[in-house]
Amino acid sequence: MQFFLDTANLEAIKKYAAWGMVDGVTTNPSLIAKEGVSLEKRIKEIAEVVNGSISSEVIATDLDGMLKEARRYSKWHKNVYVKVPMTAEGLQAVQILKKEGIRTNMTLAFSSAQALLAAKSGATLVSPFIGRLDDIGEDGMNVVGEIVQIYRNYGYKTKVLVASVRHPRHVVEAALIGADICTMPPEILEKLIHHPLTDKGITMFQNDWEKVKKLQK
Ligand code: G3P
Repeated sequence: MQFFLDTANLEAIKKYAAWGMVDGVTTNPSLIAKEGVSLEKRIKEIAEVVNGSISSEVIATDLDGMLKEARRYSKWHKNVYVKVPMTAEGLQAVQILKKEGIRTNMTLAFSSAQALLAAKSGATLVSPFIGRLDDIGEDGMNVVGEIVQIYRNYGYKTKVLVASVRHPRHVVEAALIGADICTMPPEILEKLIHHPLTDKGITMFQNDWEKVKKLQK
């Protein structure tokens, strides 16, 4: 499973890229707003650090507007994937952009039916937002399971990018289901590495080693 970082924070991207765990980055208008930077500048900065897919989201909701933004974004860097919302206009945009060789990430997907439409339109990636489904009492991971099964049934090439991840268990469950990619906030990636028994084990080994240190060369 590929790991993407769901952030526009350059320092975090640099830190976790150094771990060798960042296969790509997803941004959205809220994440860019949080950083208070220009979208173009930040996408280009991320592309300097990460050699993988970088999602940049359109703001327009009409077809022409989406196409215009998508074509502009795609010129910024070869790794830019254009995030397009799951609407009728978005589905049309995805089909047109595919013909132009522009890769897309169909975002704000909350059902397997929507993901089926995204695949039929030829989206490169589809982003089911599982945390937001869980937040309203639904089962986000169940939707991911259905999408993976449907894509497998028909051999759709669209990749399943699990988004809106809230905790490490989401990452593990995405992997168990066989999702292609999981995008996560930096703090979730950080949490994946830690286990109290690992810390305890290191301390115990160090303490025991102290007792025999002088016997070593
Ligand atoms: O980038 C899209 C998605 O991952 C957003 O997550 O936490 O705002 O629901 P969240």
